[in-house]
Amino acid sequence: MIIRENIPLSTLTTMRLGGPARYVIEIEDESEIPTAYAFAKEHSLPTFILGGGANTIVRDEGFPGVILKYIKTGIAKQSNNITTEAGEPWDNVVAYACEQGFTGIEALSKIPGLSGSAPVQNIGAYGQDISQTLANARAYDTKTHQFITLTKEDLNFSYRKSILNTTDKGRFFITSITMALHLGQMPRPFYNSIETYIESHHITDFAPQSIRQIVSEIRASKLPDPATTPSAGSFFKNIYLTEKQAEKAEENQIPVHHGHDGLKINSGWLIDKAGLKGKLLYGIRISDQAPLVLINESATSYHDLAKARAEIIDTVKAKFGYQLEQEPNEL
Ligand code: EPU
Repeated sequence: MIIRENIPLSTLTTMRLGGPARYVIEIEDESEIPTAYAFAKEHSLPTFILGGGANTIVRDEGFPGVILKYIKTGIAKQSNNITTEAGEPWDNVVAYACEQGFTGIEALSKIPGLSGSAPVQNIGAYGQDISQTLANARAYDTKTHQFITLTKEDLNFSYRKSILNTTDKGRFFITSITMALHLGQMPRPFYNSIETYIESHHITDFAPQSIRQIVSEIRASKLPDPATTPSAGSFFKNIYLTEKQAEKAEENQIPVHHGHDGLKINSGWLIDKAGLKGKLLYGIRISDQAPLVLINESATSYHDLAKARAEIIDTVKAKFGYQLEQEPNEL
């Protein structure tokens, strides 16, 4: 266990904004987790579990508490199940699964962040999300001080949500996750952008490795690489609708997407049609290729981001009447 003091959180998050953390504890093994929580309790400080920092926005005040980071890595296979330590970068797990010929997470290729974060916001892309394949997660329960297994049902997944970022936020420290996969390939039809890519590139191989390659190329063409371009991926959620709400949207000429996962309005479309795509607001660039993505081009503080966010939300609300919701966590 390594304890460090006064660490700028801009260095631990891909948006590269925000103030310092009082302490950061790097946890190397699950046996250290109770000690790390005891340290926070002794100092009467709050805790926050941080993964790769790819989906967390930090305010300028920083965090006057203890950031917990699990750094243990490792991937193991047992028949059709893959178990990964929470500190393993997610994309390494996808690469491994695809090499084995397993289908189930290939469309989740190149999502930044660590495996332990994957169930928290139910990561999803190109028609897959982790709720479809996650079997269970091992976790330390800070309420009972026990290590437990949370099943997929316990986690109560929905779009970008689980109990880990809603009803039980902060309660469980995930140490490993297990996915139940199978040999084979993704069912057709694929997500729109994959179908379009396949057609234009005359691709006929849909094995997991091939889909991984396609998704990687689509992502690279649209989404900034957080290693080189500060961003937190999609900054806003898409808007999921009931049938009644969908009818109303369509009456108002707003395109409603009828997907496997329900009826939705692409928030990227709203941002685009509100005339915001590609704009630079207070040092924050609204991506030209993926308008849901905000890039920190030259913002100097969270305050700049907050001003840009408010302007985007207000403009979309005034034009279409829909309230955009932030996707990343905020500290
Ligand atoms: N669009 C426009 N104008 C543009 C570009 C896009 O109107 O210039 C609209 C179109 O309606 C188009 C849609 O946006 O159909 C594009 O949507 P797409 O499905 O490609 O992506 P998304 O809805 O913007 C979501 C996820 C992404 C994920 C992609 C692909 C959320 C919040 N975002 O984005 O996840 O990679 O689908 O599955 O659900 C992330 O969460 O960080 C993330 C990148």
